[in-house]
Amino acid sequence: MKLQYQLTLAFTTLLVIIMTVAGIIIYSQMLQMLIKDEQRQLEDKGELIVNFILSEDLNNTTNVQRLLQMLEQYNLQVFAYDEGSKRIIFSSIPNMKKIEGWIADYDLNNPEQPLWQGKEDQYVVSIIPFYSPSATQQLVLLTPLDDLQEVQKSLINRLFLIFIIGIVVAVLLSHYLTMKLVTPLTKLRHQLKKIEKRQFDEMEEIKATGEIKEVEQSVVEMANELNNFIQSQHHFFQNASHELKTPLMTIQGYAEGIKDGIFEGEDAERGLNVMVAEINRLKKIINEIILLAKLDSEADIYHVKKVNVEQFIEKVMERAIPIANDQNKEIILTKITNHILSFDEGKMLQAVMNIVTNAIRHAHQRVEISVRTENNQLRIEVVDDGNGIDEDVIQKLFHRFVKGKSGETGLGLAIARAIVERSGGIIKAENTINKGAKFSILFTKHEKNTD
Ligand SMILES: Nc1ncnc2c1ncn2[C@@H]1O[C@H](COP(=O)(O)OP(=O)(O)OP(=O)(O)O)[C@@H](O)[C@H]1O
Ligand SMILES: [Mg+2]
Repeated sequence: MKLQYQLTLAFTTLLVIIMTVAGIIIYSQMLQMLIKDEQRQLEDKGELIVNFILSEDLNNTTNVQRLLQMLEQYNLQVFAYDEGSKRIIFSSIPNMKKIEGWIADYDLNNPEQPLWQGKEDQYVVSIIPFYSPSATQQLVLLTPLDDLQEVQKSLINRLFLIFIIGIVVAVLLSHYLTMKLVTPLTKLRHQLKKIEKRQFDEMEEIKATGEIKEVEQSVVEMANELNNFIQSQHHFFQNASHELKTPLMTIQGYAEGIKDGIFEGEDAERGLNVMVAEINRLKKIINEIILLAKLDSEADIYHVKKVNVEQFIEKVMERAIPIANDQNKEIILTKITNHILSFDEGKMLQAVMNIVTNAIRHAHQRVEISVRTENNQLRIEVVDDGNGIDEDVIQKLFHRFVKGKSGETGLGLAIARAIVERSGGIIKAENTINKGAKFSILFTKHEKNTD
C-alpha cells in the first residue's frame, strides 16, 4: 500500500477511535445531565408557584384561576399534597389514582427522588416542601422522561452530524498533509532513478523542507561525488591508455625497423637503447598506476609508526643530494624543528622525493627544504628558484596525468597527495613572489620530540 494511503488510514482510524470513545462517554453522561438540569428548572418554577400559594388566598376562585393559568403557561404536571390531612390540595394531572399510587409508593420527604414510575412511562420529579400555618405541605412537579429522551436524541443526532463532518474534514486535511509529505519523497525516488541511470544532467531540485530537504541535499551531494568519480575514472583511462600507447608505438617502430633491416649497425644500437628507455618508462608508469590503485583501495599497505622528522629529512637529503649534484644544482636544508609525526615512513619518503625531484628538475640553481611549526601546524616546505608552476595546470596539479610543458608522466604529485592525505596531512602548491614553486605539506597532529 502506498505510504500516503497508509498515513491517511492510520490518521483516520485514530480519529474514529478518539471520536467514538468521546461519543460513548458523552452519550452515557448526557441523560444524567439532562435529568439534573430538568430537576433544577422544576425547582425554580416550583419556588415561584409556592410563593404564589403562600401569598394568595386559594379560597378565592380568581386566585385559583390564576394559579391554573400559571401551571398551563409553564406546561407543568404538578400537584400539592398536605401531609397532615393526607389530602391532595390541587393537581394539574387528571388521573387522581396515579397520584395516590405515587404518594403511597414514594417517600415525599426525601429530597433526592428517583424516577417515578407511571404506567408505561417514567417521570423526573422535584418536591418542594412548604409550610402553611396549618400543616406541612409538598408541591410535587413532574416531567415525563420521554420528553428528555427526545431532547437527548436530537442532541445525539446533532453530535453525530458534527462527528461525521469532523471526520470528513480531518480525512481531507490528513490526505492533503500526507500528500505534501509524500510528494517530495516520490520525487526523490525519481531523482534516485536518474542517478541509477547516470542521468546527472537531468537532475532537478525538489521543493521540500526539514529532514526531507536534508536528505535531498545529501542525494545531490552523492550524485555530484559519483559524477566526479565517474568523470575522473573516465579521464584516468583515457590518459592512461594514451600514456601507455606512446612508448609502445615507439618500441613497435624500432622493433619492426630492426626486424625489417631498416636500422642496422649504429642505428640499430640506438634503436635498442631507445627501446630499453621506453620499456623502463612503461614500467615506471605501470608501477605508479598500481601504487595509486593500491593507495586508493588497500588498507593494509600502510604501516604507520612514529617518525622523528629530523631523521626523516636526513633520509630525504641523502637521496636528493646525488640527484641535485647530477644536474649541477644545489639543495639545502634551511631550518628544521625536532618533532615526531605518525606515518608510513617508506611511503612518505616517496611522496617527499616526488616533490623534491620535481623541484630539482625545475630549479635554475637551488632548492631549499625547511621544517617549521606555524599556527600549531608542522610544515615541510620545498621551494625552488625555477620558473614556477604553469598557470594552466596549477588548479589540478595533483590530479592524475596532469603535467606541464616540461612534465613527464604527471603521476608523481597524484601519488604524493594520496600518501599525504592518507597520513592525515594536507598538500599545497603555489608560486612564490620570486617566481619559483613552493610545495608545502601540513600536519596538524604532531608532538614535540623530548628525547
Ligand atoms: N617545482 C616545480 N616547478 C614547476 N612546475 C612543477 C614543479 N613540480 C611540478 N610541476 C608541474 O607539475 C606537473 C605534475 O608533476 P608530477 O610530479 O605529478 O608529474 P611529472 O613530474 O610531470 O611526472 P612524474 O609522474 O614522473 O613525476 C609537472 O608536469 C610540472 O608541470
Ligand atoms: Mg614528478
